[in-house]
Amino acid sequence: MTEAAKKKLHVKTWGCQMNVYDSERMAEAMAAQGYEATEDAGEADLILLNTCHIREKAAEKVYSELGRLKPLKARNPDLKIGVAGCVAQAEGAEIVARQPLVDLVVGPQAYHRLPDLVARSDRGAAVDTDMPPEDKFDHLPVARTPAKRPTAFLTVQEGCDKFCAFCVVPYTRGAEVSRPAARLVAEAEALVARGVKEITLLGQNVNAYHGDGPDGGTWSLADLIRRLHAVEGLARIRYTTSHPNDFTDDLIAAHGDLPKLMPYLHLPVQAGSDRVLKAMNRKHTAAEYVELIGRIRAARPDLLLSGDFIVGFPGETEAEFEDTLRLVEAVGYGQAYSFKYSARPGTPAAEKEGVGPEVASERLARLQALLGAQQRAAQEAAVGRETTVLFEKVGRLPGQLVGKTEHLQACHVEAPADLMGRVAKVRIVEAAANSLKGELA
Ligand code: SAH
Ligand code: SF4
Ligand code: F3S
Repeated sequence: MTEAAKKKLHVKTWGCQMNVYDSERMAEAMAAQGYEATEDAGEADLILLNTCHIREKAAEKVYSELGRLKPLKARNPDLKIGVAGCVAQAEGAEIVARQPLVDLVVGPQAYHRLPDLVARSDRGAAVDTDMPPEDKFDHLPVARTPAKRPTAFLTVQEGCDKFCAFCVVPYTRGAEVSRPAARLVAEAEALVARGVKEITLLGQNVNAYHGDGPDGGTWSLADLIRRLHAVEGLARIRYTTSHPNDFTDDLIAAHGDLPKLMPYLHLPVQAGSDRVLKAMNRKHTAAEYVELIGRIRAARPDLLLSGDFIVGFPGETEAEFEDTLRLVEAVGYGQAYSFKYSARPGTPAAEKEGVGPEVASERLARLQALLGAQQRAAQEAAVGRETTVLFEKVGRLPGQLVGKTEHLQACHVEAPADLMGRVAKVRIVEAAANSLKGELA
């Protein structure tokens, strides 16, 4: 082995699934340069922090992590530290000014230039936050080795044109871009050939997908899902995150027609008050959202719904917050994420005064109590039902495998080891807040 072939890369990832997907692509790009992945930052020659800028807390994590890496750099002056992801895009060279131990900063649309940046950083900090017109994925290698897990992410669309008043994503990820369908089909087929059984299609607004189709036309997300449905050996398809305004009839129909499309949907609404939704620039009302959910559930009655909520958006009154509680009660979520509003630099809402931390905390606690009760009810409702589970890892108890149900609930089952990576019929016998217990049916 040459000297270069022995180098080690450690990647730490925060934020959404898109960052998880990107981290894998970066690791593959660096593998082509002779870097081997390591879980141990202490033995790495290159450390990449793939960061998230969505809320202040998330963004600040990178600086505390960089502080922790200081002793490693003191011990090994050849160690290189890079910041990637949405903080890299938002703050660029400021990161190096604030924390000089950083050797390189690379924005999410420039990952195909990573090997070049690493080389350039020999001569001082290298920063690349361009959003070049070429598709980074065209230039990033696709893995050929057996997949580590039977589930995989596949980014089909990136960026966002929606400009919700609170959100940094349109600035950190740029405009909406869809990848050509033929490439995605080829990538999905390659994943299945490596042993993947379940693919989750990713996009900041995944149902805004409108990629070039192999037939010369433009494909919708539903067109793409229908094509992937025909891939032999692929057992399950999911997609996330979708936006209510891009939910077309053909996607609703796909939920009714396509058995491989799992009955789980993450469809954020953020708030239940029309005044707040308007101030957020969501461009839909609470009633329109509830009506849409009704139409999707008519196509797929066993759908388990998940959502995102923000409490304490600037100007939100108590009565407006209660509209959110009412919407949650009307819809019924099996799972959800809820956050206190965080003012983000450069977004329109950041100019406005917040509701104050005590009010926001109190509202979040009330919303989470309601969402928590709904989640428990959904877990309990699974008991006695038959579903399928895709086994992803071994359980803590001997002879146990753990996987996900069709509703994306974690499920522990006593099962022979050869079911690992495969889908089996399971009857749910017990429910806890965050996991289920099942028996092979
Ligand atoms: N594209 C997706 C969401 C991307 S961000 C969508 O439109 O739904 C993931 C979630 O983070 C958002 O749904 C929102 O609930 C939350 N979020 C985004 N910006 C936020 C902010 N400034 N403060 C608090 N939560 C925020
Ligand atoms: Fe952010 Fe809104 Fe775009 Fe979602 S749709 S990424 S919340 S701007
Ligand atoms: Fe965070 Fe960027 Fe994803 S801000 S949520 S990592 S798109």
